[in-house]
Amino acid sequence: MKPDAATVSVYDAKTQEYKNLSKTDKEVKVEAKFVSLVKPGGTVLDYGCGPGRTAGYFAQKGLVSHAFDASEEMVKLASAREGVQAWQAGFHDFEATQFYDGIWASFSLLHAPRRDIAMLLSAIKTALKPEGIFYLGLKLGSGEARDSLGRFYTYYEQDEVADLLKTHGFTWLSHKTGEDVGLDGTSAAWIGILSRA
Ligand SMILES: C[S@@+](CC[C@H](N)C(=O)[O-])C[C@H]1O[C@@H](n2cnc3c(N)ncnc32)[C@H](O)[C@@H]1O
Repeated sequence: MKPDAATVSVYDAKTQEYKNLSKTDKEVKVEAKFVSLVKPGGTVLDYGCGPGRTAGYFAQKGLVSHAFDASEEMVKLASAREGVQAWQAGFHDFEATQFYDGIWASFSLLHAPRRDIAMLLSAIKTALKPEGIFYLGLKLGSGEARDSLGRFYTYYEQDEVADLLKTHGFTWLSHKTGEDVGLDGTSAAWIGILSRA
């Protein structure tokens, strides 16, 4: 399954605008928590990295920082960050075996269709070392829809995410919820979960 072309074209066109969005306090805190859970000097992946803001932070913290995204323009920005190795790829191309100490998927997997989430979580579990850390950020709700910019979204209820993570062998460590205004100018509820493989 290829990345959704309309979604990726929005990110290609709005790369600078997205880069200029500031990180919220909650994002800053959960990034620091993720780093504290991963072993010092470990190898991490920013999965659907956008402009690579988090990948850059991971590199600054002394982690080996990998990042990928389907958007060519986003990958250019992520690659320009010191210490970040970034490449262009879709979620469905991602394959690794017990390689990563941590995988960070912040508001990226919500662009995959619901029918693919089980397969993608399974690939993430395989890519993590035993006890590896996984962060998953999603928008809360139900169904699938396009926003006013044309981006495709799948929305999840908290219980549904809990079931998915458990089924794929992840242990829920902690979560935060919130509501923020995104690139489309509307406010949306979200959940971010830290779990252990
Ligand atoms: C909301 S942004 C999040 C970016 C980054 N994780 C952050 O939190 O700043 C979603 C990213 O997912 C990427 N994306 C969407 N569909 C994708 C796919 N099928 N494969 C890889 N990346 C994809 C987009 O290009 C975009 O950069």
